[in-house]
Amino acid sequence: MIISSRSAAMQASPIRKLVPYANEAKKRGTKVYHLNIGQPDIETPKVFLEAVKQTDVKVLAYADSNGWEPLRESISNYYKRIGLPYETEDIIITNGGSEALQWAMLIACDPGEEILVPEPFYTNYRGFAAPYLVELKPITTYPQDGFALPDRPTIEGLITEKTRGFVLSNPGNPAGAVYSREEVRRIADIARDRNLFIIADEVYREFCYDGKTATSFGSMTDVLDRVILIDSVSKRFSACGARIGSLTSKNKKVMAAALKLGQARLCVPTLEMIGSKALFDLDPDYFLPIRQEYEKRRNIMIDALQKMEGVLCEKPGGAFYATAKLPIDNAEDFAIWLLTDFEYQGKTVMLAPVENFYQTPGMGRDEVRVAYVLKAEDIEDAMRILKVALDRYPGRKS
Ligand SMILES: Cc1ncc(COP(=O)(O)O)c(C=O)c1O
Repeated sequence: MIISSRSAAMQASPIRKLVPYANEAKKRGTKVYHLNIGQPDIETPKVFLEAVKQTDVKVLAYADSNGWEPLRESISNYYKRIGLPYETEDIIITNGGSEALQWAMLIACDPGEEILVPEPFYTNYRGFAAPYLVELKPITTYPQDGFALPDRPTIEGLITEKTRGFVLSNPGNPAGAVYSREEVRRIADIARDRNLFIIADEVYREFCYDGKTATSFGSMTDVLDRVILIDSVSKRFSACGARIGSLTSKNKKVMAAALKLGQARLCVPTLEMIGSKALFDLDPDYFLPIRQEYEKRRNIMIDALQKMEGVLCEKPGGAFYATAKLPIDNAEDFAIWLLTDFEYQGKTVMLAPVENFYQTPGMGRDEVRVAYVLKAEDIEDAMRILKVALDRYPGRKS
């Protein structure tokens, strides 16, 4: 039997690809610090499970295809609290932000059409675009510029007759970059003048540091008809396993198309929607200690990385990732070596090579993504181990 070229061409997750090596290391008794994956260790708020437990369900029936209305209302209230004008009818509940992103790309593009995306970008965007034959066209950003967006002529130079929109994560994964208001405005202006969609992936919205906030595309009132806002409970409330996200838009055609996609997969899980409503009803102060904790961890990690000889890592403004340039040729080889040939005091670290977060061939080969989703002491220990590893690595560049 032959499988389709579309499915064969899908990339395996570069983040999960090294898992067998980590499992082998653990079998040998080595402790592995997982800096490679964005799984927050912060406890999921208890209100989630409490809400589920208090539910007296006799029949676990199908929910509405656009999602449980009380959850959609709570998300609308959450948006209004942060100044975004979205009503319940503008919101549809999805299986995580992932499904919302897939739908947004499908709604924006026909096969062969293009979406512009700042690279490095969340590598799963590829997996969302590929089944629909949507082309991702990179807007290259650089570590030495703090991954800032290029100027308007550079971005406009990438637009062709096939371009249908942008997809951007702000704050970003994998570099933790937070776009300035001016950068957000630049994209909004281009989208308005060139008739493009903006798929605004803001799943890390609350995780901004140094007293800053991320400007939402949902606050750009002149482009609301072209903004498709993506959100999720996964990172925001440490509830990745709930698989609850949302697609939000003021554009009625977009919402009608999204509803048809929702109807085709019937609905998302009922109990998780009940728990997620309780999350969106939390007092906004919930985020204060969590933001402080992540900021503390970021500082520990980045200070340690910046002290390592040959390592380039700008302090990222948001999310819980940083992209670091290492004094090595090939980050994937180094990440494998860390798991197969190295340990220090019975421990090692697992990193995510960043090459596959770039679309331009050859870029990011010496870069890794590190996530600060471990306790502060563990991050300190992991950084000590990484330093020793870089000193001992046979492939280190002098
Ligand atoms: C930038 C970004 N967008 C979307 C997602 C998808 O999250 P989920 O499907 O769990 O909501 C992730 C997950 O890591 C992410 O980093």
